[in-house]
Amino acid sequence: MKKKALLSLAAVFVTFLLAFNKEAPDEYTYIQPSPQRSGDSAKGYEYLITGDFLRSGLPYEYYTMARGKDDRNLLNRTGKNATVEVGYNIIRSADSIDMVIPTCLQCHAEIFDDKVIVGLGNSFSDFSIEPDQKKLNAGVNFLKMTSPKKYKASKAFFQSLKMVTPHLVTATPGVNPADMLAAVLAAHRDPQTLVWQDTASMDLPDIVVPTDVPAWWLLKKKNAMFYTGLGRGDFGKFLMTSNILTVTDTAEAADVNSHFGDVLAYIRSIQPPKYPKPIDQQLAAKGKFVFNDNCSKCHGTYGEGGTYPNLLIPGNVVQTDSLLFKANQQNPQFSSWFNKSWFAQPPYAAHIDVSSGYVAPPLDGVWITAPYFHNASVPTLEAVLNSKLRPAYWMRDFDHPVYDYDKLGWKYESADKPDGKKYYNTTLPGYGNYGHYFGDVLTDKERNAVIEYIKTL
Ligand code: HEC
Ligand code: HEC
Repeated sequence: MKKKALLSLAAVFVTFLLAFNKEAPDEYTYIQPSPQRSGDSAKGYEYLITGDFLRSGLPYEYYTMARGKDDRNLLNRTGKNATVEVGYNIIRSADSIDMVIPTCLQCHAEIFDDKVIVGLGNSFSDFSIEPDQKKLNAGVNFLKMTSPKKYKASKAFFQSLKMVTPHLVTATPGVNPADMLAAVLAAHRDPQTLVWQDTASMDLPDIVVPTDVPAWWLLKKKNAMFYTGLGRGDFGKFLMTSNILTVTDTAEAADVNSHFGDVLAYIRSIQPPKYPKPIDQQLAAKGKFVFNDNCSKCHGTYGEGGTYPNLLIPGNVVQTDSLLFKANQQNPQFSSWFNKSWFAQPPYAAHIDVSSGYVAPPLDGVWITAPYFHNASVPTLEAVLNSKLRPAYWMRDFDHPVYDYDKLGWKYESADKPDGKKYYNTTLPGYGNYGHYFGDVLTDKERNAVIEYIKTL
């Protein structure tokens, strides 16, 4: 496959190869679909940017004192919602107290080249900072003394925050501890009644497994949710799990749940952003052949009549960092919590099916979703396809990030050794950048062509 002549020869055989590739190799598991709810996508979007999927938060004045008012109104909202950042909504408590709640868009929207892209995983959150528990406690006590009514409205939020934040610290900025967040919250909730319990009912995993945040526009093709494909059954129930941050009982959960057919409809309606720069169409057409030959058996085909195979690839085949799926296997207490919980009950039953590998994701709009792999360990798509180029320690500029539209990823600086939390350190457990060597067999020319093709997806 190293010569140009062979490349065109490959084109002759492509029909044959495609027919062959339709059959999933035996060791890759096809993920069966499950029935999903339907809903109204416009209502779903409205709920996401103004709704009350949490019923307790930070009193509005305290939020504005701490963060000020945001006059950019990037989501074009009205009323007080227009004054808070993307990633926060204002809700009103039963006692008429306006509270600011964190939303899905904290993690599922990113400001990219000065525009908010809803559904793009936020790779700029910083969970590497140790929370200041003393400051938090002092703030809560002050509120309790000065405004008992506000304290009451915020109590569920603070009790949860105090318990979870110390467990969410990551080794570097730009990775997400959402899996640990879910685990800590589950440990403090009765599975059936969802009522808060101060003492954790199970052991927590000893390591925060870092993840990237997947793009929402991929979900419409997927038969299972999450990197390891563990989310089975009704997706709406998984979408609403953040509600356990502050939920008081199952009546509240049921009310929140009633909106999640609409939220799912919205998430499924999102289209991937188009690559904004010129594309060399001839090169991309060549790249399509190489892609169909080397990549589509796992990632599917694109364009008219495109197919997505929905495969779970075993860890020993993809060879990327295994800590994420292994942590799920080693901590079965969380899947058993979920599988006997309110979330697993009909109507709209969901369940967790722990796996030993990763879903080969659809690649629509993948040009914009750097850094890559489930743990955000590789800064550019070029380096995904050429493992020799992957930096061991690397850092991007979080204040003035610059996107590389050729290599498809973040411009970064690499180093010879780690420097505290500053550099992404791929030698740490869970942060490894190895595996997925499927691009290494290609020539530089073939790789360039594939990258050009990927810009069109
Ligand atoms: C603290 C950050 C955070 C918040 C808040 C959050 N998510 Fe996520 N979400 C993640 C991460 C991280 C993953 C990937 C986890 C994994 O696969 O292991 C994820 C996965 C998902 C997926 C799966 C996508 C796929 O392709 O498999 C969907 C859909 C989703 N979240 C929707 C939501 C919705 C809706 C909300 C709000 C109600 C929400 N999330 C709140 C971080 C967050
Ligand atoms: C054997 C199946 C398989 C083959 C063949 C394969 N991939 Fe993948 N690919 C995967 C899996 C599984 C992942 C997820 C790995 C992870 O996140 O740990 C992945 C991840 C990726 C990602 C990162 C996606 C993201 O959002 O982080 C890109 C880009 C990618 N593959 C491109 C390609 C290209 C291009 C080819 C062909 C040269 C290819 N893959 C061949 C299974 C495969």
